[in-house]
Amino acid sequence: PGTAAAPAATAAAPAPAAPVSKEVTVLFGSQTGNSQGLAKKVSSKLEEQGFQVTLSSMGDFKTNNLKKVQNLLIVVSTHGEGEPPDNAIPFYEFLHSKRAPKLEGLKYSVLALGDLSYEFYCQTGKDFDKRLGELGAEQLTPRVDCDVDFDEPAAEWMNQVLDSLSAGSAAVSVSVGETSAITGPSVASEYSRTNPFRAEVLENLNLNGRGSARETRHIELSLEGSGLQYEPGDSLGVYPENHPQLVEELIAAMGWQADEAVTINKNGEKTSLYEALRTHFEITVLSKPLLEQAGKLVPGSKLKDFVEASSQQELRAYIQNRDLLDLVQDYDLKGVPAEEFVQVLRKMPARLYSIASSPQAYPDEVHLTVRTVRYEANGRNRYGVCSTHLAERVAAGDSLPVYIQANPNFKLPENPDTPIIMVGPGTGVAPFRAFLGEREETGAEGKTWLFYGDQHFATDFLYQVEWQRWLKDGVLTRMDVAFSRDSAEKVYVQHRMLERSAELYQWLQEGAAVYVCGDESQMAHDVHATLQTILMQEGGMSPEEAAEYLTRLQQDKRYQRDVY
Ligand code: 2AM
Repeated sequence: PGTAAAPAATAAAPAPAAPVSKEVTVLFGSQTGNSQGLAKKVSSKLEEQGFQVTLSSMGDFKTNNLKKVQNLLIVVSTHGEGEPPDNAIPFYEFLHSKRAPKLEGLKYSVLALGDLSYEFYCQTGKDFDKRLGELGAEQLTPRVDCDVDFDEPAAEWMNQVLDSLSAGSAAVSVSVGETSAITGPSVASEYSRTNPFRAEVLENLNLNGRGSARETRHIELSLEGSGLQYEPGDSLGVYPENHPQLVEELIAAMGWQADEAVTINKNGEKTSLYEALRTHFEITVLSKPLLEQAGKLVPGSKLKDFVEASSQQELRAYIQNRDLLDLVQDYDLKGVPAEEFVQVLRKMPARLYSIASSPQAYPDEVHLTVRTVRYEANGRNRYGVCSTHLAERVAAGDSLPVYIQANPNFKLPENPDTPIIMVGPGTGVAPFRAFLGEREETGAEGKTWLFYGDQHFATDFLYQVEWQRWLKDGVLTRMDVAFSRDSAEKVYVQHRMLERSAELYQWLQEGAAVYVCGDESQMAHDVHATLQTILMQEGGMSPEEAAEYLTRLQQDKRYQRDVY
């Protein structure tokens, strides 16, 4: 509820009073599309109010225009270890450099998206907020930080911003449902992140051969009747269920009753504790805020002391590879009533998977490539929540709650003749199956080049038959593979790229677009460095020139990444 909102009676007045300042610039930095969707939403609400809105990706924004901006709204997400999204990096660096202008007289507000289970929660948004302040700009409304379930805080931020900018005029307001609708696919469906579709499983196969260290599921789902649509490059959000055994052990460790009723949302809805812990709450990921809140549930608890006395590093070390069962056992939280305990738990977030099918090739279906995550740590076997649910507890005929997460930052070139270079080791190859399927179905003529890698040729060559058919048919022009454990020395995709550097550079000169999908922390970083090396080696560029070239490619949407 905004304080500046006019009383209902003024709604009948002929026109809202002219806002004091009519110009607003909305900049977004978005990796998966959520920030972009929210920026669009706030922009259209402002336009309805009569504001003149400039909406732009940070990547496209001309920084010399910054001095002219009166009101600036920033919507930005954070990745990995507190990094800005790719399309925000140049603007972020500009603002943090000596070239940044003084910004006295500018009013701004920041909406920060992030994930509370990461240490550098909403870091990019926090950085922008701090830096704009240092440059002399004045906060219009306080920054709002959002966890993965961002609808409510985002709607609240929008209402505060709208109130503040339109003080004196009749304010429109944003309801929570509206924010989730805009971050879905471009074509409206009644299904979204907050109202997922139950998709029937058509197929669930292990793609790895016998003897492989890996298990990778190929899952086909039906979207029939959902109205859900997607494009190659988009992702599918999947809501998983926790492992029944973990739920049972947690209930036993706490001395709870599986069938007691607990509240699962703000509307006061209730369900059995067993059901709540299986499907509604996250119990496998710990975070500092969770430890703090759980510590407060037990008077004089050891957990409270531990959180207060520990450094960031110590907390990080504890949180990694431990779950709620470890926490309640290690810190003896037995005795806290279930109803109280579930209030500090986070709602189960969906897991996003890059879609592996072309909707042209498989109408009404969506395919996923999911590697099963299993490992041992801190004395127990650990399981990736969603991947093991899909591998062990979902079969053809079952259904899964899903939604489409449009990804505007990982899209085939508009021109079907543009050559594409795709780098996707492991499950990173998923969207390239969608890209090539799409190019085949639409008869696109541009050249295509795939770099793929995994551990062993014999057991880990995902979709081998399909690539071979596409090579034969000319849909795939070239393919280079790196099987890392078939030789004494490790061979990775970036080694293959370097071996083909002259040709790769030639493709870039011809206007090729580069796509990288897969592991962020190592692979994508090494591939980036290799691209830089190739530009220096083949194009005679200095390290700075090569870095600028890559930034320009990124700005021109000719270098796109879907990394995790
Ligand atoms: P490895 O498991 O032998 O280390 C898909 O996971 C493939 O990516 C595997 O062959 C894996 O090799 C490889 N990989 C691991 N780290 C990598 C890196 N930094 N760059 C590129 N590929 C990497």
